[in-house]
Amino acid sequence: MGETALGARPVMVGRVKEKEAIQAGLSKAIRGHGGLILISGEAGIGKTKMTEELGRLAVLTGCDFAIGRCLPSSPCPYLPFREVLRGQIADETFTTSSTGDVMFQVKDALCRRAQERPAVVVLEDLHWADSASIQVLHFLARNIGGQRSLVVGTYRPEDISFEVAEGLQHPLFDSLRSMRRESLITEIQLGELSEGDVEELLNKLLGGRVHRKVLEEVLREGEGNPLFTIECVHNLLAHGQLTSEKGVWSFAGDLVTVPSTVKDVVMRRVERLPKTTRRVLEAASVIGLSFEPKVLASLMNMRPMDLLEVLEEADRSHAMVKVGDGKVSFAHENLQRVIYDSMSEVRRNEIHREVARILEAEPKSLRLDGEIALHHQHSGERDKCVRYSLSVGMEWLDRKAIFEAVPNLRRVLELTEGDEEHLVERLQALEGMGDCQVSLANYKEGLRDYEEFMRLGGEDVRCARVLRKIAECWSPTRLGKGSSVNCLRYLEEAEVCPRINAFEEGEIAGVRTNLNLWTGNFPKADQLCTRSEECFRRAGDRSREAQQLCYHAWIHLSQGDMPRALETLEKARAMYAGGKDIEQELEVNRLLSEVLYHQGRGREALLAFDSVHHLASQIGDRVSMCWSHIFRTFVNLDLREGAEALKNAKLALDEAMESDSAYMGCMADTVMALVALNRDDIRSALEFSEKAWKVASNFPGTVKTPVKGVTLMARGAAMCRDGRIEEGNALFEDALGWLDGGMGCVIHLAYSLCYYGEALQRQGNAERALDCYTRARSIFKVLGNAPGEERCAKVTGDLRRIIEGEISLREASNLYAK
Ligand SMILES: Nc1ncnc2c1ncn2[C@@H]1O[C@H](COP(=O)(O)OP(=O)(O)OP(=O)(O)O)[C@@H](O)[C@H]1O
Ligand SMILES: [Mg+2]
Repeated sequence: MGETALGARPVMVGRVKEKEAIQAGLSKAIRGHGGLILISGEAGIGKTKMTEELGRLAVLTGCDFAIGRCLPSSPCPYLPFREVLRGQIADETFTTSSTGDVMFQVKDALCRRAQERPAVVVLEDLHWADSASIQVLHFLARNIGGQRSLVVGTYRPEDISFEVAEGLQHPLFDSLRSMRRESLITEIQLGELSEGDVEELLNKLLGGRVHRKVLEEVLREGEGNPLFTIECVHNLLAHGQLTSEKGVWSFAGDLVTVPSTVKDVVMRRVERLPKTTRRVLEAASVIGLSFEPKVLASLMNMRPMDLLEVLEEADRSHAMVKVGDGKVSFAHENLQRVIYDSMSEVRRNEIHREVARILEAEPKSLRLDGEIALHHQHSGERDKCVRYSLSVGMEWLDRKAIFEAVPNLRRVLELTEGDEEHLVERLQALEGMGDCQVSLANYKEGLRDYEEFMRLGGEDVRCARVLRKIAECWSPTRLGKGSSVNCLRYLEEAEVCPRINAFEEGEIAGVRTNLNLWTGNFPKADQLCTRSEECFRRAGDRSREAQQLCYHAWIHLSQGDMPRALETLEKARAMYAGGKDIEQELEVNRLLSEVLYHQGRGREALLAFDSVHHLASQIGDRVSMCWSHIFRTFVNLDLREGAEALKNAKLALDEAMESDSAYMGCMADTVMALVALNRDDIRSALEFSEKAWKVASNFPGTVKTPVKGVTLMARGAAMCRDGRIEEGNALFEDALGWLDGGMGCVIHLAYSLCYYGEALQRQGNAERALDCYTRARSIFKVLGNAPGEERCAKVTGDLRRIIEGEISLREASNLYAK
């Protein structure tokens, strides 16, 4: 029979450059420069084949080689990493730990492995990966550069380029964009095989040469896709349409019927299967791309032994499935899809129902529940589908996996529209969906869900919580656009809800804290923040309490109370201790470094900003990376380290571009302007400050943050130096207005007063300059910033002597003159 010609798996043809890239990556990893390679291309193009080639090379060179696969339909948290690190990391770790924790554990496990011998890890079919796995992958890419490990992922571009839900891209899509920007990946894109490659493939498949006509036909049909090419040959052989004479394969008759679509090709092969095999594969196609023989056996009412025999035959003689240890999968997704589609809908749905019943008897897991929900959906079991989808959706949301939560919750909402019986489920899904929308910054949509909840929810206990969430949507920086009226109204409603609990009271006090901060009422914010911490303590939520403590430190800092800011940060740090949550550690360090800067402890502050930068770079938080460069510029200007200041300002500029943050871009331009001033480059100072102001002037004026004030200050200073005194002074006055009483603005207010004082001094206005420096001095004093205070003391002393006519203006000290 023809198929014997296809017995052995063909060796790889073509792909010379791609193989070289893989070899280069491997050899770098062996030498201790780890990295990530991503192989992409359409289905059947040869991604897996490429990884098989890599596996061969890895084993040949004594590397440790492991594969982790992702599966379609319902995602499973960290599935590929679980497979790769089986035996190294306990399965519970993946189900119970935070993503931050898992990241480190995976990295450490890989690192331990790589200590013995270079480790090569393949992550197959990342287009099906759960979002947490993508986060881990990104984290690895950033942090394995110095290790003897190579991570290679495969994915299909067409499967990640659509929106999963409104405003929600595939997690790999977003991650890829930033990995490219960070130059973290080597990419290998597989395109179609060349004509020569296809010819070689045919020669190898058939064990002889092929006639030109055959090659042309196969080229036309297979479009250089190896899988289609192989399918096509399978089909021709199976229909006896090829004959071999003297080692050359040509068409057997004149009338050649090469099927015109891949689907037809596959279907013809399916039609030729023995009846039992076909039945078995049909049932299997309903379970999924890969399945457990045990489940299929009970579905078919067959003895597992008999079933395995059929499956092995389907593998050996028909190349339809691959029988692996424990699991069986279809040789290709096309096969599963075509077989599935070949059945009538009624029959498929019947099988779905049966599969759901069998899976329900298995030990519970998130992945399984997700599959059960889908089987119930197909079989029309609305009630069960709602229950499973809801529990799966809520669990994903709990893990902050929005990407996975949304489709499940959406399904619940679709199925329960206008349905009284499922009111409880609908309410839960509405709140969950609202939470998803809010975390995607879709406040309008979130509000819509919460409002429907309130319309349907009546006097439910959860009302206080949902009302508070509505209030948050209406906060001045979100939909409130500067007004807190709606926000306050909903908070008041929330507060009078019956049976409100301590946690919710804490959240409400937290929102009120924000509102007061935005209006610059620090004492009130201080008070409310303390209250919300107490509530979280009563509720036993340490993580929320610690978060609130950080916020409180920020309030103290804005009030200029450094000792209390430090004390509060220490408390927060003690609470975080132990858990490996980089974001929380970053927050504490960020505030700590600001405190040091406020206190004029420049050298220590530089070290602290370094650690912020290091933490931020581990998780790719570009905004924080940029922010640390901006503050390093401030500190260096203060320390009179001109060259360092310039270096950091440039880094800030680069990082701001990468971060896409308008706020950071503006701050980076501003520090560039200050550095230029420092170098007496007035033209550049004007240009940069102009650019910064163009952006900053469009920021909403609701919240006083440093950006507007500092930008105006830089622009004022540049103008004054350019001789446009009146305009410049007016800008300075404006700047002071923006910085007085703003969040985190106090140190900038002090420095702006110094810059203004210096400008006034240059203008010969010693009296007003003295006012500025005196005010700045008292702020430095409050902050405990001794160097600032001393410098201002010296200038104010000189200015007094000028006013009294003892010395000339020229002889006076000048804070920023070189
Ligand atoms: N360069 C090649 N030479 C010989 N055979 C190849 C080549 N590339 C792919 N094949 C064969 O083509 C078939 C499909 O390849 P493979 O499974 O690697 O595709 P894939 O890109 O991983 O597809 P999917 O996205 O569906 O996983 C396999 O049988 C494989 O052995
Ligand atoms: Mg593949």
